[in-house]
Amino acid sequence: MANKTKEPAEVPVPAPAPRPPAPNPAQIPSVGRSQAPKIPQRAAQPQSLDAAGDDENQEAWKQQCVAPTADNRVKTEDVTKTKGNEFADYFLKRELLMGIFEKGFERPSPIQEETIPIALVGKDVLARAKNGTGKTGAFVIPCLQKADPDNASIQSLILVPTRELALQTAAICKEMSKHMGLEVMSTTGGTSLQDDIMRLYQPVHILVGTPGRVLDLSEKNIAKLQNCAIMVLDEADKLLSPEFQIVIEKIIPFLAPKRQIMMFSATFPSAVKGFKEKHLPGAYEINLMEELTLKGVTQYYAFVEERQKVHCLNTLFAKLSINQSIIFCNSVQRVELLARKITELGYSCFYIHAKMPQSSRNRVFHEFKGGACRNLVSSDLFTRGIDIQSVNVVINFDFPKNSETYLHRIGRSGRFGHLGLAINLITYEDRFNLYKIEQELGTEIKAIPPQVDSSLY
Ligand SMILES: Nc1ncnc2c1ncn2[C@@H]1O[C@H](COP(=O)(O)OP(=O)(O)OP(=O)(O)O)[C@@H](O)[C@H]1O
Ligand SMILES: [Mg+2]
Repeated sequence: MANKTKEPAEVPVPAPAPRPPAPNPAQIPSVGRSQAPKIPQRAAQPQSLDAAGDDENQEAWKQQCVAPTADNRVKTEDVTKTKGNEFADYFLKRELLMGIFEKGFERPSPIQEETIPIALVGKDVLARAKNGTGKTGAFVIPCLQKADPDNASIQSLILVPTRELALQTAAICKEMSKHMGLEVMSTTGGTSLQDDIMRLYQPVHILVGTPGRVLDLSEKNIAKLQNCAIMVLDEADKLLSPEFQIVIEKIIPFLAPKRQIMMFSATFPSAVKGFKEKHLPGAYEINLMEELTLKGVTQYYAFVEERQKVHCLNTLFAKLSINQSIIFCNSVQRVELLARKITELGYSCFYIHAKMPQSSRNRVFHEFKGGACRNLVSSDLFTRGIDIQSVNVVINFDFPKNSETYLHRIGRSGRFGHLGLAINLITYEDRFNLYKIEQELGTEIKAIPPQVDSSLY
């Protein structure tokens, strides 16, 4: 009746790839077009208790930490093709290294290797890397490293397009800064302004939020950003779409005059160019996207009539080995309707969209992330940034209108280089769009075979 369970352990574990030799920490990463700044040499560092020092000390502090159980699932080159850096190569504070270690990050992913040294020297950054390859760590680690717990002002502002992503990002900041004595606050629409005002009477070092609420608090002079010298725009292209850009432009004057701006996304349509030239013209550009889709995600389409879609979904549920799935619809009404149909079919399912009360959104997000339910029907609210490691299948019940949305949606599976499956229900009306998206992404979406090989996801 409910779809079959699938344990991550079933996936074959490959032989570990040989690691390239550790680079000289003074070496400048070779990607990007701007002039790279100098990275401090290890020898120039003062001998401090805080700095990651010799190997013996490194081992000693690791003894005090509780690392999560290793995830031994197969990982693709999207995250394994690194230069072999270690987090300790960046002279991070010992307390931060402890948080990173406890988060289960053994060594930096490619985007973290490219970004962290540049971000630490204060350069503006525009970074593009595939979904699920660790962009969050690439900006959170520098923000935490640069934060001074003895300075009670807001020092980093991290903006994201959705409330759930703000909660997720703030939670990562809190986990990683657990030993640092830093205060992290998330602030979003849909919550009590009064609570935020009360909270901001207390010190906050890192503020994570959605643009509307952050602007509101700044204009009321409640969130004081004059000493905030770092602004991160995660999902930058979304934050610079017409609905948000005007708000972002209004927030910038509240920041410290000498501020570092960092923009991250897997997609950077040309619309971002104007903003980049105005606010971060000398930004160091990192683009790790030689190809656009994830190596680990297999994509299929099923050609159906609109009225056959639910039946088709029923067949997919019966045949696939779904660990957790996200099923995307193109409107709020269709999300609710489909969720009802799925429940009638006898499968467990939650649904989420932006028109729901925030308390229900939070509950669904939290419980789905905790594995309380196998399937989630969603609007584009969950298209970007949401990281649920156990999602191995994404179904586009409604095919998206553009390639950016398609890429971000299917990137909810295959997190951190793991395997995943994306299935698209395509109607006669979608056929041109399917072709267009394949062309734009330079990828092939194949017709679904009668049996989907379960070792693919
Ligand atoms: N260095 C690392 N070692 C191990 N796991 C990591 C590392 N960096 C990130 N991860 C894990 O990879 C997953 C994806 O990371 P993250 O959400 O930052 O990706 P992203 O690039 O921001 O993706 P998206 O484009 O979808 O927003 C997370 O579960 C995170 O904990
Ligand atoms: Mg992200």
